[in-house]
Amino acid sequence: MAIVEDVAALRERTLASVEQAADTAALDQVRVAALGKSGALTGYLRSMGQVPKEERALVGKAVNEARVAVEEALAARKAALEAAELAAAIDAAAVDVTLPGRAQQVGTRHLINRIADEVSEIFLGLGYSVAQGPEVETCYYNFEALNAPADHPSRGLADTFYVVDRSGAACNVRGESDVLLRTQTSGVQVHAMEDREPPIYVIAPGKVYRRDVADPSHLPQFTQIEGLVVDEGITFGDLKGTLDYLCKQLFGEERKTRFRAHYFPFTEPSAEVDVSCGICHGEGCRFCKGTGWLEILGCGMVDPNVLSMSGIDPEKYSGFAFGMGVERIACLKYNVPDLRMLLEGDMRFLRQF
Ligand code: DAH
Repeated sequence: MAIVEDVAALRERTLASVEQAADTAALDQVRVAALGKSGALTGYLRSMGQVPKEERALVGKAVNEARVAVEEALAARKAALEAAELAAAIDAAAVDVTLPGRAQQVGTRHLINRIADEVSEIFLGLGYSVAQGPEVETCYYNFEALNAPADHPSRGLADTFYVVDRSGAACNVRGESDVLLRTQTSGVQVHAMEDREPPIYVIAPGKVYRRDVADPSHLPQFTQIEGLVVDEGITFGDLKGTLDYLCKQLFGEERKTRFRAHYFPFTEPSAEVDVSCGICHGEGCRFCKGTGWLEILGCGMVDPNVLSMSGIDPEKYSGFAFGMGVERIACLKYNVPDLRMLLEGDMRFLRQF
């Protein structure tokens, strides 16, 4: 009986294809080819009416058995393939629980902030309070009220970032804007004198900006700490005692200070303060360029002009002021040879402090 044999052959071919299907997608193609709407076995089931009556029972039985066998084989193969695919997916996404975890790193304060706070603490201990001023400042506070004559070299475009209007035009007759990024924290002195009545004992830490190219001893943005004292009977002796105390607190009791005459527009007399080199103890070495001393700040007695411009009577009051670079102090304290190292963000370097 040709039909029964054909069905048997189809059954064997289909079962073989089921076994060979490599994945569930291939298996589905086998299913559609055999049992889909126009599948081969479905075709036999549909055309049973055309089979001669006497053969119909046998053919029907063969086709039905073939269908059941194929369906069972499909189900078994499907289960096996799905299990294999799931196992492969689990393998691919496997997490190695024996690897060490990634611990959260705890941050620390940056050395620049630490030194600024350390200096502030020293002065808070002496009864000073902390004052603040704007980083975007006017010419008046940054220069004029600090007695910087109009032709003072620091006022030229070379040192100062001027803020210009939208068209890029400078805002006043000298070819400079009236608005600038402060080049020093000394302007906070003026704000403090305008805002407070003497006695004034303030320090003012903050960022300042200069048109400098970064190199080992210059940064276009850095941090300063300004100090201002205005009271009755303040002398240069008070200034010396205060700054000598600061240096010993910061660097160690054994360090010496020296005051060298200097010029600043807003103080008279003015001085630069050096602290004895902590590496050679004054003998002279590479770190102090053979001098035995390290320059750490500028200071002086507040010029009477500066007092009166800010509404303080210089006949009644006198005062002193000082200003220091925090990055420079950090480098001097820890023998760091290049200011830029503080800002490079190299954690191996920064974690040391
Ligand atoms: N403003 C000065 C600078 O940026 C530092 C300074 C010097 C501040 C003398 C002072 C001072 O208050 O009295 O170089």
